[in-house]
Amino acid sequence: MKTHYLGLELSSPVIVASSPYTATRDNIARCAAHGAGAVVLKSIFEEQVLHRAAACDFRPQGMGDSGEYLERYLGDAYKHEFLGLIAAGREIGIPVIASINCVSAGEGWIDYAGAMADAGASALELNIFFQSADSSRSAQQIECDYAAVVRRVVETVGIPVSVKLPLRLTNVLAMARALCECGARGAVMFNRFFEPDIDIERMTFVSSDPFSMPSELRNVLRTAALCSSAVPELDLAVSTGVHDGPAAVKALLCGARAVQVCTAIHLHGYGAIAAIDRFVDEWAARHGFAAPDDFRGKMNYGNPGNSLFQRVQYMQYFPVKAI
Ligand SMILES: Cc1cc2nc3c(=O)[nH]c(=O)nc-3n(C[C@H](O)[C@H](O)[C@H](O)COP(=O)(O)O)c2cc1C
Repeated sequence: MKTHYLGLELSSPVIVASSPYTATRDNIARCAAHGAGAVVLKSIFEEQVLHRAAACDFRPQGMGDSGEYLERYLGDAYKHEFLGLIAAGREIGIPVIASINCVSAGEGWIDYAGAMADAGASALELNIFFQSADSSRSAQQIECDYAAVVRRVVETVGIPVSVKLPLRLTNVLAMARALCECGARGAVMFNRFFEPDIDIERMTFVSSDPFSMPSELRNVLRTAALCSSAVPELDLAVSTGVHDGPAAVKALLCGARAVQVCTAIHLHGYGAIAAIDRFVDEWAARHGFAAPDDFRGKMNYGNPGNSLFQRVQYMQYFPVKAI
């Protein structure tokens, strides 16, 4: 089923999320062969673009994300290879959304974002992460930093820009509105960070599971339902916990234009893409919907009765009720 996302017409609402599943030409071809609407390339990190390995001093034992990644891929060769992947996607015939993981609004990597657009990326997804370790900075200041990055990038690249948002923002709707005003076309909800865990016997950092659980979708649905109603100009993609067709339908009903999948492929192979797509088509046909526009956002906050999205407490279980 076709969808429109970031101004692009996609043959399917199922996009393969930024991950190893989009990191090589062969994998991109697999995504296309299984009917993905688009791929988001494995992010290139700002530190990679700027050759700043030392900036990444967080090195958990076991599988690290950025530490390991930076060690393997620092250097011009990879930057060149990354642009080659964009071209490969075009040859394969699937829209390629380039991705940059950035931690500042510095000039150097923003020029590289321009190079991605020149190489033929259909859009650019910004994976911005400002981890505050400074208790004197307000949420608003940090959110202004996000907006500043987006504004700079939008001014530089001539392609649609989306922002993969962190889960914990004070007011995600205000952030979404601010991003929109800076020219962002879309938002991805959410970035699932690589979170360190602790081995309490050895008292060392270890990696936690990088893959999601289906239950994590709950966190995202609420916000997607609120945001698609409050900031309808922003195209939403739901990422985190979309493991199957019913999860994708829920995301679309909450107002998303697309879903992004990664763990589903880890668990079920690339066939997961076609399975989700098929389910969405069959479900829509069963309910008499011809296109996603017919049902997108039908369950979002703007619809009568959906004020439930605002209630986060277990009022119905109060005072004491048998569960
Ligand atoms: C091994 C691995 C590598 C990932 N690398 C990136 C990355 O480079 N950039 C990014 O934005 N997200 C990255 N992600 C996050 C995924 O794009 C996705 O948002 C997350 O896995 C949640 O989606 P899921 O529930 O479908 O797995 C990665 C995830 C995994 C498991």
